[in-house]
Amino acid sequence: MPSLLDRRLVVVTGKGGVGKTTVAAALGLVATRAGKRTVICEVAEQERLSDLFGVDASGHEERELAPNLHSVSVDPELAKEEWLRYQLKSGTLAGVLGGSSVFRYLSAAAPGLSELVTIGKVWDLAQLERRTGGSVFDLAIVDAPATGHGIAMLRAPSTYASVARVGPIRRQALQIDAFLRDRQRTGVVVVALPEEMPVNETLDIERRLAEEMEMAIDRAVVNALYPERFTRDEAERLRSVQRENGAVRAALAEHERVRGQRSQLRRLRRGLDAPVATLPFLFEPELGLDQLDELARRLERAL
Ligand SMILES: Nc1ncnc2c1ncn2[C@@H]1O[C@H](COP(=O)(O)OP(=O)(O)OP(=O)(O)O)[C@@H](O)[C@H]1O
Ligand SMILES: [Mg+2]
Repeated sequence: MPSLLDRRLVVVTGKGGVGKTTVAAALGLVATRAGKRTVICEVAEQERLSDLFGVDASGHEERELAPNLHSVSVDPELAKEEWLRYQLKSGTLAGVLGGSSVFRYLSAAAPGLSELVTIGKVWDLAQLERRTGGSVFDLAIVDAPATGHGIAMLRAPSTYASVARVGPIRRQALQIDAFLRDRQRTGVVVVALPEEMPVNETLDIERRLAEEMEMAIDRAVVNALYPERFTRDEAERLRSVQRENGAVRAALAEHERVRGQRSQLRRLRRGLDAPVATLPFLFEPELGLDQLDELARRLERAL
């Protein structure tokens, strides 16, 4: 199995708010340090990467975040037009059809078209020969939607292939589906927090990916782990000696939280087939380039 960064596409998913975008960005930095020309693809109308890297947002267009690191935010409507243009090999026709009843008919007849063209765009970004004529990357990382929507997006090609029984749409959907299931080419990273619900959801994602897509997780990343400041003994001694001291109480409360996190981390490691890496909680009001750099260094060692 090639290492994660030697695939063509890495899908980053996980529960909402756990740090998917942050991890996708840090992973992008790791890849560029390995000399890879990398693109991170945001979907579902998110445009957080530009903020993180302090550059202007550019929507559907490819833009440079850092040397060798690019981003694209997929707009499903524009992706539909691109896809139609490619299907029809004629820009004018796609323009005419774009807002027309024919196109609406097509979308209504086949629900999930947005997911299909979105994953189609992601797939295209990962190809050595781009269908839509953009530049070529060594690695595409997709900051995928949270769990349910993320899996729906990965399933869209196979769903479509079973609806469209013949023709070029079926052919292309099958091609994308095969690419996603090919572990040599597509990797999966699931991000979690060391808390009960995100851990449950991560275990669930592994099961669903296997059952519904015959796909496996390559790495789980447990994000925002608090540092362990005391050993169990030290905490015990603090508890017995300094119980009335406010600062000590606060420290002990944090210690309890850390213990909870460690126990969730152990639960994930026990239950998950995939290896689990961890990233520390960074005590900053807002994450920027310096923090991404720090997370990238940690991630690099864990991969
Ligand atoms: N290791 C960390 N230390 C401290 N803060 C973090 C860390 N990782 C992420 N955050 C912060 O947590 C918040 C959520 O992170 P992020 O946007 O990456 O999550 P997400 O999973 O992409 O969320 P969404 O599901 O909304 O897309 C952000 O404010 C981010 O700056
Ligand atoms: Mg996000």
